[in-house]
Amino acid sequence: VVLVVDFGAQYAQLIARRVREARVYSEIVPSTMPVAEMLARNPKAIILSGGPSSVYEEGAPRIDRALFEAGVPVFGMCYGFQLMATTLGGTVDNTGSREYGRTPLHVTRSGSTLFEGTPDEQSVWMSHGDACSAAPEGFAVTASTDVVPVAAFENDEKKLYGVQYHPEVVHSTHGQQILEHFLYRGAGIKPSWTTGNVIDEQVAAIREQVGDKRAICGLSGGVDSAVAAALVQRAIGSQLTCVYVDHGLMRKGETEQVEKDFVAATGVQLKVVDAQERFLNALAGVTDPEEKRKIIGREFIRVFEQAQAEIIAEASGDQPVEFLVQGTLYPDVVESGGGTGTANIKSHHNVGGLPEDLEFKLIEPLRKLFKDEVRMVGQELGLPEEIVQRQPFPGPGLGIRIVGEVTKERLDLLREADAIAREELTAAGLDREIWQCPVVLLADVRSVGVQGDGRTYGHPIVLRPVSSEDAMTADWTRMPYDVLARISTRITNEVKDVNRVVLDVTSKPPGTIEWE
Ligand code: XMP
Repeated sequence: VVLVVDFGAQYAQLIARRVREARVYSEIVPSTMPVAEMLARNPKAIILSGGPSSVYEEGAPRIDRALFEAGVPVFGMCYGFQLMATTLGGTVDNTGSREYGRTPLHVTRSGSTLFEGTPDEQSVWMSHGDACSAAPEGFAVTASTDVVPVAAFENDEKKLYGVQYHPEVVHSTHGQQILEHFLYRGAGIKPSWTTGNVIDEQVAAIREQVGDKRAICGLSGGVDSAVAAALVQRAIGSQLTCVYVDHGLMRKGETEQVEKDFVAATGVQLKVVDAQERFLNALAGVTDPEEKRKIIGREFIRVFEQAQAEIIAEASGDQPVEFLVQGTLYPDVVESGGGTGTANIKSHHNVGGLPEDLEFKLIEPLRKLFKDEVRMVGQELGLPEEIVQRQPFPGPGLGIRIVGEVTKERLDLLREADAIAREELTAAGLDREIWQCPVVLLADVRSVGVQGDGRTYGHPIVLRPVSSEDAMTADWTRMPYDVLARISTRITNEVKDVNRVVLDVTSKPPGTIEWE
């Protein structure tokens, strides 16, 4: 394992992902973990992440010098770089000169372990206020910028490396190469980790854990629960029953996809509960977004509990349902303070929210994986492309994409508009570029239009295409006008009561991705 020491902000997750993209397994640990504990895990290398602090701040996170003396290769990035510099006797000045964003980097030792084979001038992503002016003894300076004399250094003998910038972000043009140079050349690690290993490992572990007991899994139609279920199905076959609650808030074709394609691909036993009426009744007259969410979550739990009672009854008592499968992902685990094996890990709720007091043991086969890795696992398990490559869709579904009261008629209308938008985006090959594209019905707004020869007074549909890495921040996607035009023409022509299509051009922050 390669350990990524997390000094705050979002950097550690991105670094861990990049390491795995280099086919080396990595995990994140908090910077407060004692060095002895890190070393006890026998890491092949350690990476110190960036973070929001300045090494000069009182109470800024530190690292025990012992980390650099254990013979384990270490790579410091940004804050990790400065920490390495100060800890080992180099000089970091609080110069007040800041560098932020895309910055030209001058490689001064092109034959160095990290930079070999990369251009002498490259573009890197900087974000710092302090600058290293002298490398620690025994270190060679390998790069500089116009502002920072020491922007990278290395001590090949001790296997210690550092860069002032963020090689993990895409704006650092040779970042991945430099990270791989550290892993393969610096630390001598062979790239061998694949998601295929994960399947074999998990199948064996789940068989062992479950024995001859039974498990259930709530399917949401999303990627995570589908892949988790398929993995568990591979391990324990008919001992697993999946429950899919059709709350009527899904998009066009999604329920059918789960009922037919997912079952065909996995052979899973599926119980579909048609609860459309129930959800519509509960949502009648409600317009407040938070209240909608609460109602949907609550109803979901009730329906799920009922289904579960039926499954348990059908099992006739000899093999009780003891396990609940959840599609918890690694970012959920890290963000809730987990990943260390010691922290109290909350169970993340994938769908509407499952009850906290469910008396089940959890099976979470994806809890060490990032989203893109989950997709790869799904692909290897033979799940249909439409499920594996599905864009994120909120648990409360279209219920929070109708601004105003949720009714059957409005849901049908929004489903049509959404299906058109999705079809055109796919046809234009934009599915990968666009993280997700909520299609929102402003049911409480009307505007005047002219269609045919008559005046109309219809609703607007909002298109909200966003580009993002992790949904924490997002930017609106600059998508081609002709695609927008096709979507607009088709929606206004084909969807009754819609006479206007508008484009949301707000980044996140300040706007969230969803409208409610
Ligand atoms: P926002 O709107 O907060 O959304 O920018 C960030 C990401 O989360 C999804 N989302 C949800 N997912 N239950 C979910 O499972 C929810 O209640 C929910 N609300 C938002 C949203 O689609 C986006 O991907």
